Amino acid sequence: MEVLFYVTKIKSFDGIFGRIAAPIMVRKNREAEIEANEILGATQGARLLVLGFGPGVGLQDLFRRTQNVKVVGLDPSQIMMEIAAKRNACEIEAGRLRLIQATAETISEPEDCFDGAVAVNTIQLCEPFENSLPEIGRVLKPNAKLVTITHDWAAAKHAGSPEIWKARLDSALVAAGFSAIDIFNGKSEKGKAIVVTARWRAK
Ligand SMILES: C[S@@+](CC[C@H](N)C(=O)[O-])C[C@H]1O[C@@H](n2cnc3c(N)ncnc32)[C@H](O)[C@@H]1O
Repeated sequence: MEVLFYVTKIKSFDGIFGRIAAPIMVRKNREAEIEANEILGATQGARLLVLGFGPGVGLQDLFRRTQNVKVVGLDPSQIMMEIAAKRNACEIEAGRLRLIQATAETISEPEDCFDGAVAVNTIQLCEPFENSLPEIGRVLKPNAKLVTITHDWAAAKHAGSPEIWKARLDSALVAAGFSAIDIFNGKSEKGKAIVVTARWRAK
C-alpha cells in the first residue's frame, strides 16, 4: 500500500514507476474496479467513459459484464496506454474500445455523449476538481451516472483525512452541476474504499 502511495504521490504513472505500479494495481485494485462497474450498472449498448483506466482491468470487466457497450478510456500515462491496450486488444480491434492519452481536465469528446462514467482510484488525482468535474459533466448525457471509488488512505493523503476529502469532493460535485450525490463505504478494500456516485444535471 505504501509503495502505491509513493507512486500516487509522484502523480506520473509513467516510466519505471508506472512499470512497478501496474502489476500492483492489477492485484490490489481489481475488486474496486469490479465494484465500481457493478454500481454503475450499465445497460446493453451503453456508451461509457473510464477515467484513469491504469492497467485496464476495469475496462476488461465492463466488456465481460455488459453486451455491446462502447467505451472510451482516458489516461495520461503512456505505460498504462500500452498495458491496457494489450489487455483489451480484442475490444480495440473490434472497435468497441478507444483509448485516449489524456486527462479528465481535457476530454476531446463531444458534449452529452456518455451514459455513464467510472473513475477508480483516479478522481483524487483530478484536483483541483474545479478543472475536471465540469469537463466530465460536459461529456455526460443528462442524468448519466458518475461512479468513483477511492482508497481511503489516498483520500487522507490528499486532504488530511477521508472526511475532509469527501466533503471537498461533495461540494465540488454540487458546484460543477452534479446532483443525487451518494457517499458510502464500498465492499472492496475490506469496507474501507470510498464510493462516491452522482448524476449529471438533467437539462
Ligand atoms: C492509482 S491509478 C488507478 C488505475 C486503475 N483505475 C486502478 O484502480 O488500478 C490512477 C490512474 O489515473 C491516471 N491519471 C492520473 N491523473 C489523471 C487525470 N488527471 N485524469 C485521468 N487519469 C489520470 C494515472 O495515469 C493512473 O493510470
